[in-house]
Formats: sequence, C-alpha cells, structure tokens
Amino acid sequence: MILGIETSCDDTCAAVVGRDGSVRSNVVASQGLLHARYGGVVPEIASRHHLELIDAVIDDALERCGLTLDDIETIAVTRGPGLIGALLVGFSAAKAIAAARLLPLLPVDHLHGHVVAGTLGARPIETPYLCLVASGGHTFLARVDEPSSYRLLGQTIDDAAGEAFDKGARMLGLDYPGGPAIDRLAAQGDPGAFRFPRPLPGDGLDFSFSGLKTALLYRIRDLGSEAGRQSADLAASYQAAIIDVLVARVRAALARERLDKLAIGGGVAANSQLRRQIAELCDELDVRSWLPERSLCTDNAAMIAAVARFLAPIEYPDYLDLDASVHVALPPPAPVQTASS
Ligand code: KG4
Ligand code: ZN
Repeated sequence: MILGIETSCDDTCAAVVGRDGSVRSNVVASQGLLHARYGGVVPEIASRHHLELIDAVIDDALERCGLTLDDIETIAVTRGPGLIGALLVGFSAAKAIAAARLLPLLPVDHLHGHVVAGTLGARPIETPYLCLVASGGHTFLARVDEPSSYRLLGQTIDDAAGEAFDKGARMLGLDYPGGPAIDRLAAQGDPGAFRFPRPLPGDGLDFSFSGLKTALLYRIRDLGSEAGRQSADLAASYQAAIIDVLVARVRAALARERLDKLAIGGGVAANSQLRRQIAELCDELDVRSWLPERSLCTDNAAMIAAVARFLAPIEYPDYLDLDASVHVALPPPAPVQTASS
C-alpha cells in the first residue's frame, strides 16, 4: 500500500493506492472558496490552511479504506513544481511520517503524477500513449513509453490553458476558479458568435494562450455596456478557441508520434467541450482515449501515489536532507525492478 500526499497548490490531498493500481481512497480538501474572493490562489493563505488540514486529511484517507499507517509500505509526496510554502507542508509531513516509521519515501514530480493518473483504476491505459495535461499551472503534451518517465513533446510558452480560463472568467465577471464557470456559461452561448484567434506557435507542438486572453480583453472593451448581455456568447466563443487549439495539437501529436492511445489530465480535462471534442477526434482516428473521472483530473494524491508504482523510493534515512522544490530538476529515481526487467 502506498500513501500519497499532495499539497502543491490550494488543495490538501492524501490517498491510498494499492500496488495493483487500485485507488483505495482519494481525499481532497479544497480551499477553493477561501481564495475565491481574491480571484486566485494566495500562496500564504494556502500554506497556512495546508498546515491546519494535512493531519486530518491523511487520517481521513486511511480511515476511508479501513487501514492504518501500519499497512503503509511507501510514502509518495509531491516535491514540486508548485508554491514552495504549500509544497513544504506536505513534504515535511511525509518525511516526518516516513522517518518515524523507517519507511521509504518517494519525492514525486507533480507533472509525472498527472501523466500517470491514467494508469489507475479498473481500465488503466497501456503504454505507449500520448498524454495531454492542461491545468491551472501547466499545459503540455507528453509521450509515455514507460510509466516510469515521460518525454515532453510541447508545452505552453506563456499562460497555461487553465490560466486562460481563470483570467478570461475574471474579465467576464465570473467567479474563481474560472474554468467550471466558463464551462457552465458557455453551454448557453453560441461558440460561433465571436471570432477569437487560434494561436499555434512555431511548427512544433507548443501552445500559447496569452494573445487569446488579450483578444478577449479588447473584445469586452469594444462591446462596452453590451458585454454583460453577450457574456454567454463571449464565454462560448472564447472556450471554443482554447479547446480548438488543444485538440489541434493533440491531433498533430498523435500523427507525428504514431500513437493510438491518448490520456488527458489536469483540471481543464474536466471541461465538457474538451471531452466531447476529444471523444469525437478519437472516434475519427480510431484512437483509444482515457478520459479520467474528475477526481483524477484535478489535483489529487492518488496520481502522486501512482508514480510510486513505477519508481524506486529512497530508503530511510537518505531522504532526510531533501526538501520541496519550486522546480523539480531532480535526476529521476530509478525505475522499479520487476521480475521481467
Ligand atoms: O489540475 P488542477 O486542479 O490544478 C493545477 O495543477 O493547476 O487544475 C485547475 C485548473 C483551473 O485553472 C480551473 O479553472 C481549470 O483547471 N478547470 C477547468 C474546468 N474545471 C477546472 N477548466 C475548464 N473547464 C472546466 N470544467
Ligand atoms: Zn496539477
């Protein structure tokens, strides 16, 4: 049994995952409402709340599957990237529990967690596959030949897709987090009402969303007092531009890499329009898609624990002087040795 801990942003998360990939529990204490009135995550507030919640969330994750710390063999914890104060809370808690019980510890790259979330559950994705991760802090495409690592094929050169949703929502006067708010409002609007750019920078697989955000700003300014009345059409048209770009890059990456399996992850993977268009694309190309349930798309600790199925943890006491890191530039730990490897 692996205990996963994740505190890289504003959700306090703990989960228990079996070596077979079964998710025994997956607890997320969301601080979303606390940050809503500031229109975004306030790092200091996030760390203070992680500190208050972390013990209770870990206890809850164990209780929900009827286990205790005695049943845990490995602890996996997000090392980065993320907000340093927030990361430190989860990382310190994980080190303390592991050290007190002489357990091995695996420091995990948060992005690797999103990439392998699809390997969890009853119908796991099999390698090789393409993975699109679109969240509030990151947007990238990765090729996964073995779940112990991933290769970046392209990434955003400015804002993340979730950031484009959040900032666009703010301009439209919607609440934080903006993604779900735009998703809901867009359902009542016409995606063809306004024409927004579909930026595809360079000839590779990178993304860029900052120009699109500026285009929305100008459009709202030009509409003046009319903007409020047309907010559903604006939301639908703006969302369509973001989704079209994501889907276009997925199409290009599947072709370039000759892959026939696709997983999507990150908070934006919960978007109803993205899910619809990805499902249509996969039908058209005969690609098997793995569209995770929402609890495995947004930040969670089950995906962090999932990484520990594929990488060897660090034994006690060698991890004691390790710390969380804003960037994860760690040399990756060694893959787990299996009978066949
Ligand atoms: O993966 P996540 O929970 O945290 C990060 O690692 O960032 O992603 C959060 C992001 C936010 O930007 C939020 O607005 C976006 O995911 N999001 C959505 C939807 N639900 C969450 N974006 C579009 N449509 C949604 N339904
Ligand atoms: Zn994330």
